[in-house]
Amino acid sequence: MSLNKIKKIKNFKSKKKLVCLTAYSKSFTKILDQYCDIILVGDSVATAFYGMKNTKNISLETMINHAISVKKYTNKSLLVFDMPFNTYNNIRDATKNVKYILKRVKCDAFKIESNGRNLSVIKKLVKLGIPIMGHIGYTPQFKSKFKAQGLKEKEIKNLIDEAKGIEEAGAFSIVLECVRETIAKKITSKINIPTIGIGSSKYCDGQILVTDDLIGMSGFYPKFVKKYINLQKLVKNAVKRYRDDVRKKKFPNRLNSYN
Ligand code: KIV
Repeated sequence: MSLNKIKKIKNFKSKKKLVCLTAYSKSFTKILDQYCDIILVGDSVATAFYGMKNTKNISLETMINHAISVKKYTNKSLLVFDMPFNTYNNIRDATKNVKYILKRVKCDAFKIESNGRNLSVIKKLVKLGIPIMGHIGYTPQFKSKFKAQGLKEKEIKNLIDEAKGIEEAGAFSIVLECVRETIAKKITSKINIPTIGIGSSKYCDGQILVTDDLIGMSGFYPKFVKKYINLQKLVKNAVKRYRDDVRKKKFPNRLNSYN
């Protein structure tokens, strides 16, 4: 764990926007590490990579195997491990699992989704010297309906209180997912740690996206996703050309053969 990296990330607040993306494998990490401040081994691997219907069933072992691959090419970015569902239900489980993960992967920090009841878990892990990133708003492990957060007065108050609570518990940053623009702006101005938005407006201190969405490979593109490339279309085209070449006996040619 690099505490210097954590300090650097905290210093971004209001100075420079944090650039964050998810990674599940070494090949993507090799590219991402050159441009990102934070790389998250997200439990979105469940839906984006394994085609599961939600993120609740991804196992700790599967997450660890992806993180081991990502760690191989993470040099300059901060590597965050997303704690999967049911691995931090109480202080004892969270501590045991975090220690186990650290033995297997030398990640820099852990992300914990908020369910309104796990501040004590964050507090304890921070006390043990484990850097924690919070996650509020639409938290896929605990909410079934995908929708914008912060519409009603009570919900707005809860979001602000949760953000403040997570900061007080000692987290070094917080992901705001699908939080309405005005509320994301308010939270960002009220706390001293960086907010990282996903569908939560330009007012956050940084942005994160699921890389598979950004490159057009996931098939799930909510309005907050900007597809920077349609890789699905490019791959489809390449595979079609390969098929045609094989059928027409154009591939392999002499150059692709051992003579
Ligand atoms: O799992 C994930 O990819 C995430 C990001 C969307 C923040 O939690």
